[in-house]
Amino acid sequence: MTQSTALKPHPVIVPPHPQWPVLSSDEKSAMKARIKTLLKQRNAVLVAHYYTSGDLQELAEETGGCVSDSLEMARFGTEQSAETLVVCGVRFMGETAKILNPEKQVLMPDLNATCSLDEGCPAEEFTRFCDQHPDHTVVVYANTSAKVKARADWVVTSGIALPIIKHLAERGEKIIWAPDKHLGRYVQKQTGADMLFWNGSCVVHEEFKSVALERIRRLHPDAAVLVHPESPEEVIAQADVVGSTTALIKAVTDMDNQTFIVATDGGIFHKMKQLAPGKKLIEAPTAGEGATCESCAHCPWMGMNALQNLEQVLLTGNNEIHIDPEIREQAVKSIQKMLDFSSSQKK
Ligand code: 13P
Ligand code: SF4
Repeated sequence: MTQSTALKPHPVIVPPHPQWPVLSSDEKSAMKARIKTLLKQRNAVLVAHYYTSGDLQELAEETGGCVSDSLEMARFGTEQSAETLVVCGVRFMGETAKILNPEKQVLMPDLNATCSLDEGCPAEEFTRFCDQHPDHTVVVYANTSAKVKARADWVVTSGIALPIIKHLAERGEKIIWAPDKHLGRYVQKQTGADMLFWNGSCVVHEEFKSVALERIRRLHPDAAVLVHPESPEEVIAQADVVGSTTALIKAVTDMDNQTFIVATDGGIFHKMKQLAPGKKLIEAPTAGEGATCESCAHCPWMGMNALQNLEQVLLTGNNEIHIDPEIREQAVKSIQKMLDFSSSQKK
């Protein structure tokens, strides 16, 4: 059973996409070399998301760091002996790293790199909502603040949401789900769980358009459609594969199709092209056709990460993530549950 709420979406201000000065290839190589030295001096590793620039992804891989989805980013941090984790992604990823590794220094290129889901779910309002439904298990997406995680029973990412909700539904638990209504509805449809939704969405995925997607599919009848589950229901309905960023990348390498239409942030194409250079990748349509779109499949907050500000934080040690110890003590429980559940699935 799905219960709907009359919650209004919380207003979110979307920043313009940052414009970074273009570096010549010599300037870029020199900057990368300086960053490599600074990483060694600080005993630091880079933990980067697939939506960051190709330069940052390459640098992370060349220096023993990781490039992955949000679940693996969280896990990777816990397995490092480095004293400092430099998280290239958005704020919740840095906070999760700090919550799981309080003894480590966690730095980010820009602390203003948030996420529309996080911004659209303020902790005080969310707590009031949960308090109105005390018989519900509270499950929140990783794209939330530390305070919201502290109020939750479980944290999930797109890579582990389905099996966790299935597990809770089998135990007969009623669920509060926040903040992404599209991912929530998708999971609810797949599991039949009894869920009450927060009214949040990702400004990037919200813009994929189902009618325009139908048109592109007709032009490429042999293409497989890959969709991140933060996308609207009618877009998900056209997908051959729905999944986390890792799952979508895996689909490009594993499936026999030569053409893929991809509905997620354009940053993902870097890894897809690297792993499957011969395959044709097409961006799923956003507002398009003369209309304006806020993000056009590029997350403005992910775009706040660049070589330039990465070098600055390594030089200065600025932009450190701090978490209130009481919040951390609560939040770590719901995150650790997710990691333990995910490890048990692998056995
Ligand atoms: P993944 O965990 O699938 O990488 O998703 C994170 C995210 O923010 C997608 O918009
Ligand atoms: Fe948040 Fe969407 Fe950006 Fe992912 S793409 S970080 S969900 S705003």
